[in-house]
Amino acid sequence: RTAEVPRLTVIGTGYLGATHAICMAVLGFEVLGVDVDRERIARLASGEVPFFEPGLPELLTKALDSGRLRFTTSYEEVGEFGDVHFVCVGTPQLPGSDAADLSYVEAAIGSLAPHLRRRALVVGKSTVPVGTAQRLTGVLHDLAPAGTDVELAWNPEFLREGFAVDDTMRPDRLVFGVASDWAEERLRAAFKPVLDLGTPVVRTDLATAELVKVAANSFLATKISYINAMAEVCEAVGADVKDLADSLALDDRIGGKFLKPGLGFGGGCLPKDIRAFAHRAEEIGVGQAVSFLRQVDDINRRRRARTVDLVREVLGGDLAGRRIAVWGAAFKPNSDDIRDAPALDVARTMHGLGGDVRVHDPVALDNARRAAPELTYGDSAFDVARDADVVVLLTEWSDFREVRPEALAEVVKHKRIVDGRHALDAAQWRGAGWEYRALGRS
Ligand code: UGA
Repeated sequence: RTAEVPRLTVIGTGYLGATHAICMAVLGFEVLGVDVDRERIARLASGEVPFFEPGLPELLTKALDSGRLRFTTSYEEVGEFGDVHFVCVGTPQLPGSDAADLSYVEAAIGSLAPHLRRRALVVGKSTVPVGTAQRLTGVLHDLAPAGTDVELAWNPEFLREGFAVDDTMRPDRLVFGVASDWAEERLRAAFKPVLDLGTPVVRTDLATAELVKVAANSFLATKISYINAMAEVCEAVGADVKDLADSLALDDRIGGKFLKPGLGFGGGCLPKDIRAFAHRAEEIGVGQAVSFLRQVDDINRRRRARTVDLVREVLGGDLAGRRIAVWGAAFKPNSDDIRDAPALDVARTMHGLGGDVRVHDPVALDNARRAAPELTYGDSAFDVARDADVVVLLTEWSDFREVRPEALAEVVKHKRIVDGRHALDAAQWRGAGWEYRALGRS
């Protein structure tokens, strides 16, 4: 059987793992998902996706109904079941350091290896510092039962939250970091339906595959910070960064994607990945090559501070006691993820400065409440804007874009809006009598 369609296991059922397991089952594979979190496994097994991702709940139901997708907390079952094992656990930033925390990846390999009983391919998908796969190959061989033929490959994942299903089913490319033809053949079998769509494959060594991922995220982060650096210059001279970005975007060598100026990037990936990359580069003696990533990070952090300053400026110099409506808590629209969310960060800072901050987000409210219980929350954009001295848009949900300035004018105390994401039509708001302000625009 292994020669034909492999049985897949997915270790770690967080954002990446749950999406991968569900999509692979929908594409026709038999899939077993495993996690140490019993509650998460129980929720998934009962058909509930434990995070917000458009389209995924429907696919989970479909996959469970097909009988091809199951979940477990037993690594023994995983070892018995799988031919190809995908490691999808998180690699968060280590507290107090820029380095990535590899303990979950190590625990996954350590838990799986002793249960491998026949020839198997273990595939790392997690984002890791370059050199990790080489080291883990040794660990895998040491811990697997003597005589078991196991190999490690690396297959970085590029999915975006909010587009996870599409990015998994129809990725731009697949990167197969392998040490043998057999591993490549196994990966091709494990992605056959995706490859049949004509998806390009790049075969690399293990180190290159690890690097592709951090290089891609670093490039995206750099592009965002580049335009935000231009916003700083625009602010100093009274120029307009929105027009500047629109003009650059028309050069198709540059392109408009990830060139949107504003509050900058957050989330569970870009910020921690650029820090971990800079840290790893320093460790291996090539820190200088990517030292610019420290500046990319600094520019990004300055946007948050500058947003607070702009609100203060609009309020005449002081936030204390002023009612501030905050639109958005998630790190980006179409997500309930608040990890390193610029919106929540800015809201907390303004609260710390004495502002009476009231936050609304269409889906991230529960997560925000847990992470920042000191803030006040409201159930709608209008609800939090009642009697506001200023409205501050920090995550560009379409709900906020669709608000009519005339309607909002009826509930606020002062018609002032700070658009942290360049999401609104400045002329329309000004035309309706609002003081409209945005970073990088005069
Ligand atoms: C990012 C990458 O885009 C994925 O390819 C990658 O797989 C993922 O990280 C990961 O490493 O797992 P994601 O974090 O879901 O995906 O979000 P993005 O859509 O990349 O947005 C990141 C941040 O950049 C958001 O806070 C967004 O608001 C901000 N951003 C994006 C801007 O400020 N300006 C832009 O022009 C684009």
